[in-house]
Amino acid sequence: MPKSHSSIGIFDSGVGGLTVFREIARALPHHSLIYLGDSARVPYGTKSAETVTRYSLQAAAHLIDRGIGMLVIACNTATAAALPALQASLKIPVIGVVEPGARAAVARTRGRVGVIATEGTVRSQAYTKAIRLIDPKIEVIESAAPLFVSLAEEGWANTHVAREVAEIYLEPLLDANIDTLVLGCTHYPILRGTIEQVTGDKIAIVDSAETTASFVKDAVHDKPSGTPKHQFLVTDAEERFRRIASDFLEREIEHLELVTL
Ligand code: DGL
Repeated sequence: MPKSHSSIGIFDSGVGGLTVFREIARALPHHSLIYLGDSARVPYGTKSAETVTRYSLQAAAHLIDRGIGMLVIACNTATAAALPALQASLKIPVIGVVEPGARAAVARTRGRVGVIATEGTVRSQAYTKAIRLIDPKIEVIESAAPLFVSLAEEGWANTHVAREVAEIYLEPLLDANIDTLVLGCTHYPILRGTIEQVTGDKIAIVDSAETTASFVKDAVHDKPSGTPKHQFLVTDAEERFRRIASDFLEREIEHLELVTL
């Protein structure tokens, strides 16, 4: 149970977790949030599960030192690799993004789910396992789309380059006749408009940020008082983060700090 008036820690390898941050800020407008983007070590998706687990434990330790009462792993790769390790080592609630995404996919699909994610998440088969646990009859096709992370980090989400990359990545899933597409990396909703241009309107898109925010809302029991504060921490390139985050959140980023994990 979170401590009274404690803030919620949200972390990702870079800007992707802002998609989760935005939904949590909407769902819990009176809570203070601390966002940590490990921009010095992005991408996580190409790294081993052991390395991602080590990075995740370091990020969590930093946020715990700042007094958070709940941790949201706003990164599918880190959820797939490190959720059990984080839950075992922390004394506060830890929420990942895979289960909420899987539940939303099961609720929407007619039987064929495509998942695009990082190499690490696809290798873990985290979505296939989570979806099949709920409904073993659902067909799940997972495919890695690593360049989407760089395009989002670069601020290139709405360019023709992103559109061409999306066409190449999505072709096998469209050929497999999926009816639902899970954006299984928190960076990908930044490219949602471009992705939807390729998928058209017959494929339901699942963005686990929204469902994760409602999980978080249900898990929070304290009633905050005072003015909520939003703090942002990055491990490198704070000006790039400020630019992309301001564009994405449509407001200026105050309280941005460079930290070392
Ligand atoms: N945003 C992250 C995810 O949801 C990781 C992207 C990366 O660092 O490769 O998987």
